[in-house]
Amino acid sequence: MFRIPLQESLASPSAGVVGCPSDRNPRATGVEKMPEAAFTAGAFQEAEVTSALGTRSVVLVGMMGAGKSTIGRRLALRLRLPFRDADVEIETAHAGMPIPEIFASYGEDYFRDGEVRVIARLLDGGPAVIATGGGAVMREETRNRIRDKAISIWLKAEADIIMRRVRRRADRPLLQTADPAATVARLLAEREPVYRQADLTIGSREVPHDKIVDECIEALYARLRAEPAPAPAQNIGLGPGPVP
Ligand code: S3P
Repeated sequence: MFRIPLQESLASPSAGVVGCPSDRNPRATGVEKMPEAAFTAGAFQEAEVTSALGTRSVVLVGMMGAGKSTIGRRLALRLRLPFRDADVEIETAHAGMPIPEIFASYGEDYFRDGEVRVIARLLDGGPAVIATGGGAVMREETRNRIRDKAISIWLKAEADIIMRRVRRRADRPLLQTADPAATVARLLAEREPVYRQADLTIGSREVPHDKIVDECIEALYARLRAEPAPAPAQNIGLGPGPVP
């Protein structure tokens, strides 16, 4: 994977891009067909990302309201991978009990322990696109598992955007405080140094979701493309071996 100098090829539509035959090349035909060519190149890039991931997942981390579930669902569609939402999986593991009720009945530590187990299971079932709850990566064991089994993307949202988004919903137990804005500021200060350790960072802002998804795919592509090629399989004497 990633052996084709793709950026160079795309910069020149006549350069014989894989998946972009010359009959679709606007220079060759004189017809303006760039949207189709761009789609083809995008689909090629997505397929390359999925292939290079192998069994690894893409894990979205970041604060509540950063858009991890919304972007994750769309990213999964584009990469043709299953989408898994860790919060939903935790609720399912509790016979559908909503997260605020899990917090209220059993406490945050119990929720966090369950979160560690659920994310471990999701990572073992990769590849997938996994949206994590905002506090998940504060557990070191979860960070280590994500590092070993996934490529992580921090969806980085500023405090004002987070506040605007979380105000629409009252299902964040940590924000049921007298001053939710101060709580978000405190959580951001505690968590940003940890989120920053993600492999990739994409700004979450008020632009069409597909733009953020495009940026995630571009960043994944660049990252995976820079990985060293896997070592060739060693002949350890189990197969027929070379013909003498
Ligand atoms: C939490 C974020 C929530 C959910 C729980 C705790 C957090 O998920 O896991 O309410 O600690 O930031 P989202 O980030 O998907 O809202």
